[in-house]
Amino acid sequence: MKTFAILSALAASTLAFPTTPISSLFSGNIQCPANKVQPDGKLPVDSISTSLLVQISAKEPNTAFPASDWAKITPNDFCTIFNLELPVDKTQGKVCNLVFDFPNIWEGPGLFKFYGSGDFTFTGYAIGVGAQNGTTTYNNQPSGGPSPPNPPPTLQPGNSYVVNSAPCGIPEGTPSPVTVSGSLCSSDTTFIFKQSDVVCPLGFYVVLTDA
Ligand SMILES: *[C@@H]1O[C@H](CO)[C@@H](O)[C@H](O)[C@H]1NC(C)=O
Repeated sequence: MKTFAILSALAASTLAFPTTPISSLFSGNIQCPANKVQPDGKLPVDSISTSLLVQISAKEPNTAFPASDWAKITPNDFCTIFNLELPVDKTQGKVCNLVFDFPNIWEGPGLFKFYGSGDFTFTGYAIGVGAQNGTTTYNNQPSGGPSPPNPPPTLQPGNSYVVNSAPCGIPEGTPSPVTVSGSLCSSDTTFIFKQSDVVCPLGFYVVLTDA
């Protein structure tokens, strides 16, 4: 009955304060920013979230920051490395679309902070390697690999970007999953966000589409 009492109290307070109930913000009317592989802005079934985020700092180049759900990018200092684990069977014959979803809506208790003009550098690491919790530092990054050739020129709140699209190209029989990873840095922007999917997805995802 305790639960019921709490619910009644909430209902009573909603009546007492005729402001927009928070629940209405979560229902209807919210259009997540779309792109060509996320036409409704949501995550398709065939999508993969990050498995690990590790911050690194140019000004503390030997500090191994513990893995976190939060990415932190600051001008010429903090970058964040993102790992994604691709299940080999699911990628067969597919295009791997790396997206960055950046909704600009009321997202619960502050899921991002963004100050600056939004110029970012996307750096790719070698296929099969990624950040390691407790080991990766600015001076000890995963080995280099191909970076997205045509990343979006800027990231701005309220947009959803396709950072790179290419055939996944992972041979059948490769030990699964295959780690892909990259870092996000900036020369002019502070960007702190929680990789999450509350109302709209926020952060890096791989969306698989048919080739
Ligand atoms: C990263 O390492 C720290 C320190 O050992 C540990 O507390 C934390 O749970 C680890 N996080 C992940 C995501 O493995």
